[in-house]
Amino acid sequence: MEHYIIKGGKPLVGEVVIGGAKNAALGILAASIMTAGSCLIENVPNVRDINVLLQAMEGVGASIDRRSDNEVVISGKNLYMTDDLIVDNEYIRKIRASYYLIGALLGRFHKAKVVLPGGCDIGSRPIDQHIKGFRALGATVKIEHGMIVAEAEELIGSHIYLDVVSVGATINIMLAASMAKGNTIIENAAKEPHIVDVANFLNSMGARIRGAGTDVIRIKGVESFHDAEYSIIPDQIEAGTFMMAAAATRGNVLVKNVIPKHLEAISAKLMEIGAQVEESDDAVRVIATRRLKHTQIKTLPYPGFPTDMQPQMAVTLALSKGTSTITESIFENRFRYVDELARMGANIKMVDGNTAIIYGVEKYTGAKVEAPDLRAGAALVIAGLAAEGYTSVTEIGYILRGYERFDEKIRGLGGMIEKVDSEKESNKFIYRTGTLNA
Ligand code: UD1
Repeated sequence: MEHYIIKGGKPLVGEVVIGGAKNAALGILAASIMTAGSCLIENVPNVRDINVLLQAMEGVGASIDRRSDNEVVISGKNLYMTDDLIVDNEYIRKIRASYYLIGALLGRFHKAKVVLPGGCDIGSRPIDQHIKGFRALGATVKIEHGMIVAEAEELIGSHIYLDVVSVGATINIMLAASMAKGNTIIENAAKEPHIVDVANFLNSMGARIRGAGTDVIRIKGVESFHDAEYSIIPDQIEAGTFMMAAAATRGNVLVKNVIPKHLEAISAKLMEIGAQVEESDDAVRVIATRRLKHTQIKTLPYPGFPTDMQPQMAVTLALSKGTSTITESIFENRFRYVDELARMGANIKMVDGNTAIIYGVEKYTGAKVEAPDLRAGAALVIAGLAAEGYTSVTEIGYILRGYERFDEKIRGLGGMIEKVDSEKESNKFIYRTGTLNA
């Protein structure tokens, strides 16, 4: 069975280059089929979620030309104009971002039928705000046989107030509204960097969107889009994961190809617990020479501390001096790594299901653990890198959904990790890297 085997206890040192933002790419790729022309998209991360979305787009007739691992040309010219713009296959059911195809298809063709989204099991993930937005634009939306069916005679701009700050709903409504008649205002919009990136991409295709990155987005609908070329922003969460890996292993890592502004919440917390963070134009260096300190964290929508960095931060804090607390305010099921981390020696108590009290321990010891979801999986890899001895992380399919060449990048920093397919290969790694006390 595919898993990572890690020999820990060595600080990560060196340089790592961050790829394109997965969550921006998902919105941008879906948006690209809104033109009958073609779009060249660069800095696309080569990860499983992206490949699944591209396959689903091919399934409705888009042509996908992978120029290289990170570059793709998409043409929406031959999108099926039949009754059945149906997006469904066994893979697409497992990813979250399939829902962006509703906004994109509804915008361009005024109809879409897309299987209900899956994604990591990090809590109940309703889509009522997406539906509210589509309905406000004049669409009828029904859930039938596990599919979301959206249709409209005409989409008409509207004033939409989101009851919860939702990244997905903001992007999805932006997609559909950018081709609606007249003006749309989205209030209480999410402000994440990938919202801005999707808006910039749409604008590069001819959309007229202002205010992305603030909580009021204004959209003037246009009739059609044209060809575009676009390069996706760096992945803030991949960057943050490597920053945290540097801190937890007491290493020294230059994280390159980032936008430091997008990392401010992470950098600020790392500095607060005693790590050194040096920012330059497009890189951050994280240095931790001694044991770090405790702090309090509450996850919040951007520019607050990202929920997608919560498990990685917990792994770092569980090795730090004193007692820390982490409160999760976005998803209710994001602490499933706590039991796994306990196997490695962490001392974490849950209060009320959404707050973790973390009593710092001096060290982790390697163990067999299972990734419960994408970001928690990456966090367990960090724990393994910091731990004494060998750790195996199973269910790494989650990690491969969102991290490109994760093990290779870690090895580039001197980390001892390998992706293996069997116990035999795992044992070979252990034999090769020597026993702990050898
Ligand atoms: C996106 C990211 C995910 C990240 C999350 C928060 C993608 C593919 N995924 O997920 O990695 O953790 O943003 O930054 O980009 N909600 C509703 N009704 C809705 C929509 C959302 O109640 O219609 C709630 C959710 O349950 C959650 C909160 O709003 O509590 C935020 O969710 P949202 O921002 O929509 O997350 P996703 O877009 O699913």
